[in-house]
Amino acid sequence: MAKPLINWSPKFYDRISKKYDLLSRVFFSMGEKGKERVVINLRIGSILDIACGSGGLLKDAVGVGARAFGSDTSWGMLTETRFKAPSANLVQASFYELPFKGDTFDTVVETNAVSGVEIESDIVLSEMVRLCKPGGEIRIGDYAKAPKDNLWQRFMEWIGVLFGDYPHDYVTYFRARGLQTEVEYLGFDGMYQYVRAEKAA
Ligand SMILES: C[S@@+](CC[C@H](N)C(=O)[O-])C[C@H]1O[C@@H](n2cnc3c(N)ncnc32)[C@H](O)[C@@H]1O
Repeated sequence: MAKPLINWSPKFYDRISKKYDLLSRVFFSMGEKGKERVVINLRIGSILDIACGSGGLLKDAVGVGARAFGSDTSWGMLTETRFKAPSANLVQASFYELPFKGDTFDTVVETNAVSGVEIESDIVLSEMVRLCKPGGEIRIGDYAKAPKDNLWQRFMEWIGVLFGDYPHDYVTYFRARGLQTEVEYLGFDGMYQYVRAEKAA
């Protein structure tokens, strides 16, 4: 697969962490919409954001009464989260192997992170399922495999890959594992999705 124009490494995120919110609002308003959607009707209880970035989602989750946990590989981004959501429990860790016991969180979320090029999404999604309590929810707001395939979709995919985004099929992954799963298409002709999956009680 082609190398993206930007190397989205932890060092890169450390460098942009202080400007991340502004950059995201200007260049990726759809990603902001995804974060907002993920916290609507959130269950009160514990929430883990597996790539919490600068902490906007966790701040909103704390605002509605949730106990917040966040992890990220970028120390700079975690520092921003610490300012925004001081009560959140944070850990510097990769979403491939998270240092928590299974069946721990009422809600496990990710936004705008697992769509990266060359990310082994199945491993990350299985971590999300492992960490979610029976009866809990997994919520994703991300660039994803669109329901239909046409020239426009392929062009958009190509642009995405150039910049480091690669669509994964979250819905098929969860449904294949027996999780009741719903999807909403938030934009880009079905390529930006809000996915909610329930782990059986
Ligand atoms: C585009 S930002 C999204 C941040 C936040 N979730 C949001 O929606 O604004 C991607 C985030 O994923 C983090 N990240 C990248 N690879 C990671 C990994 N393997 N494990 C955990 N976090 C990772 C980056 O450090 C960055 O904070």
